[in-house]
Amino acid sequence: MQEPMRVCVICDSRYGTTLELARAVARGAEQEGAEVRLCRVDIEEPEYSVDPERSDFQATLAEYRALPRATGEDLEWARGIVWGSPTRYGLMSTPLRAFIDEVAPLWRRGALIGKVGAAFTSTGGMHSGNEITLINLLLPFFQHGMVLVGVPHSVPELVRTVKGGSPYGASAVTGFDGTRGVDDNERAIARALGARVARLAGQVRPEPASVELAAYGY
Ligand SMILES: Cc1cc2nc3c(=O)[nH]c(=O)nc-3n(C[C@H](O)[C@H](O)[C@H](O)COP(=O)(O)O)c2cc1C
Repeated sequence: MQEPMRVCVICDSRYGTTLELARAVARGAEQEGAEVRLCRVDIEEPEYSVDPERSDFQATLAEYRALPRATGEDLEWARGIVWGSPTRYGLMSTPLRAFIDEVAPLWRRGALIGKVGAAFTSTGGMHSGNEITLINLLLPFFQHGMVLVGVPHSVPELVRTVKGGSPYGASAVTGFDGTRGVDDNERAIARALGARVARLAGQVRPEPASVELAAYGY
């Protein structure tokens, strides 16, 4: 039976690369016929972690702020959730992590059990943390009881890529000065991930059950 194809894409981004991946994921899901919400998390003011003089930071700020701020309601609405952030010190970014903490009440209610989850990230370096960040972005989905989705090698660009993109999710390698951007293979892999999440989101049925009640043996 066809279930509603509703996909929520949540991103953090300062220089625009992760946001570009998020837009590609969203486009892939839309092309598959899904209803998509593209959201952001918070931005700290002042932003200590980045170079605010960089032109790509200035250019991204307005675009990023214009996105709706993600809420728990977006996650409840969606059947597929794809989130991503820049890699920072081999980890996901603090604002995305804070958002994941913020939606803890959904975990207690088991509200995301049975939904589809996937991830994307952007790194400066080629071997500098992108795969481990993707894996870490996926771990909270396991905790929420979700069904995890990556990118299969039937996606031709995953075989061809010489930069980002992995079986663990979509990614981009931008170079340490950020000048390498997102290339066509990385964009295509992100679109394929969005399309796959949409297709699977149209097949799953959430299985909500209270985690707290389970803990008390009911
Ligand atoms: C505080 C900080 C920590 C970073 N840590 C890493 C890292 O561990 N590995 C890496 O490859 N790039 C690292 N980078 C580079 C970013 O991951 C890279 O610039 C990314 O493409 C930015 O994404 P955005 O364009 O969406 O902001 C770091 C950048 C900042 C500002």
